[in-house]
Amino acid sequence: MGTALSLLASLGAAGLAGLGAQLAVAPPAAAVEDGLALTPPMGFNNWNSTNCRSEFNEEMVKGIADLFVSKGLKEAGYQYVNIDDCWAKSARDGNGNLVPDPVRFPHGIKALADYVHARGLKFGLYTSAGTKTCARNGFPGALGHEQQDARLFASWGVDYLKYDNCNNQGVDARARYRKMRDALRDTGRPIVFSVCEWGENKPWEWAADVGHLWRTTGDITDKWASMLSITKKNQALAEYAGPGHWNDPDMLEVGNGGMTATEYRSHFSLWSVMAAPLLIGTDLRKASAETFDILTNRDVIAVDQDPLGKQGTVVSSEGGRTVYSKPLANGDRAVVLFNETKEPATVTTSARAIGLPEASSYALRDLWSKEGSTSQGTISASVPSHGVVMYRVARDGGLGTPPAGTSELSALVPTSVTNGWGPVETDTSNGERAPGDGGPITIQGASYPRGLGVHAPSEVTYHLGGRCSRLTVDVGIDDESSTRGTAVFRVLRDSTKVADSGLLTTDDPAERLTADLSGGSVLRLVVTDGGDGRTSDHADWAAPRITCA
Ligand code: GLA
Repeated sequence: MGTALSLLASLGAAGLAGLGAQLAVAPPAAAVEDGLALTPPMGFNNWNSTNCRSEFNEEMVKGIADLFVSKGLKEAGYQYVNIDDCWAKSARDGNGNLVPDPVRFPHGIKALADYVHARGLKFGLYTSAGTKTCARNGFPGALGHEQQDARLFASWGVDYLKYDNCNNQGVDARARYRKMRDALRDTGRPIVFSVCEWGENKPWEWAADVGHLWRTTGDITDKWASMLSITKKNQALAEYAGPGHWNDPDMLEVGNGGMTATEYRSHFSLWSVMAAPLLIGTDLRKASAETFDILTNRDVIAVDQDPLGKQGTVVSSEGGRTVYSKPLANGDRAVVLFNETKEPATVTTSARAIGLPEASSYALRDLWSKEGSTSQGTISASVPSHGVVMYRVARDGGLGTPPAGTSELSALVPTSVTNGWGPVETDTSNGERAPGDGGPITIQGASYPRGLGVHAPSEVTYHLGGRCSRLTVDVGIDDESSTRGTAVFRVLRDSTKVADSGLLTTDDPAERLTADLSGGSVLRLVVTDGGDGRTSDHADWAAPRITCA
């Protein structure tokens, strides 16, 4: 039994459950593979602060772009300066083109995008997948004009499109959003595509290969109750999110005045632990120092932007006290202790419950107070009413990076594990259901002493810390597969595919994969079903070895 498995076994049942969605979870979703939005988009959108009022204009947007640079927001990761509804004139021109409102945007949209780009930022625009947008009376929408509008947006230098759902004439949502996805793709310009149909057609089930993010709920308002109810809907959808395809619980209200600073810290922490897009929704020209402090908390942003790209999940929830945990690329966990009640409360969990392996002690860092502490395993804090305490928790000594030289991957501890059937086995095949029930890893009669026995759909990730250069591994369907198994093996360095087996069946001998891991933070070993939808996809990563500096 290898180190990793003995460790998983030593966690016991509670620990295994605590490893989050470790066993029998949804397959890794097929996503738009264009390298965009590998972490949740960060930026600004005017809607929450201005709606369609006249202060939404060129001067405002330029002012925001300037503040992104001068106030360190760009440096903190904010990139997209996006404008929402009401930017256009109420009618198209004689050629059927959209026309910018000449009062709000006297120099047009292209000049504004140029201004934003000149500051090293990106520019986003809005329209609706309907005949008109959502504003009262509405402005022309893109339904039936997808190609023409996409081409116009690309010619203006648009980098991000929010595509709303009003006045859709009852046309099927998937068809409408796919049409615009294709039109954007045809322009050849990389454009982040934000699906905004308010969760009405369960976009988490179909939009992973349509948009880079999809709204999961109706519009947020600047009220505690709104923020809370959106959190509860969005938190249930964690399994659907990942690099390039995010749940979007709507834009931030931080700084708009309808909640207390404590509540805004909760809002920002919850969005980050849920790997939500962080789109600032307040007019930064009027924002307080406290608002800037919240929006630029680097430690909280790092949780949101962690390259592993997992949305945090609810570990426990009782009497208005909820604990969230998010696995991070280096093996740490982010944890949010949230108190939604009207009184201060003690919220408690444990290192084991949030999914950390057994250790003699744990290092905790409070991401708001910046205080450090250590614990034998209990994670507990007194949390103010409507507040959070947010920690980054590391196993003492951390998981660290793999040792220098060439290592057997099966001797290392994975940072996260999902598997279609039973546990991932270390140095044996998958077996049928219980830990340790597999046999020697065997592909077409060739046996291997080391490796991972998995079952499609599966994803096993390891921390690389940018120090590893190469992976070699033999992949194939294990001979124990009782009926004909089929699978595709893919190796990802962060979100870049670096090796792909193509379709393998029980009849194929092992295939040698080699992958360049240079500079990568995370190694992901992904196995998907071969497409026949049948089971018995007992898949082996045989003799996997990595070389690190
Ligand atoms: C809808 C969207 C909002 C905003 C408005 C603009 O309500 O969900 O986010 O874009 O339209 O009219």
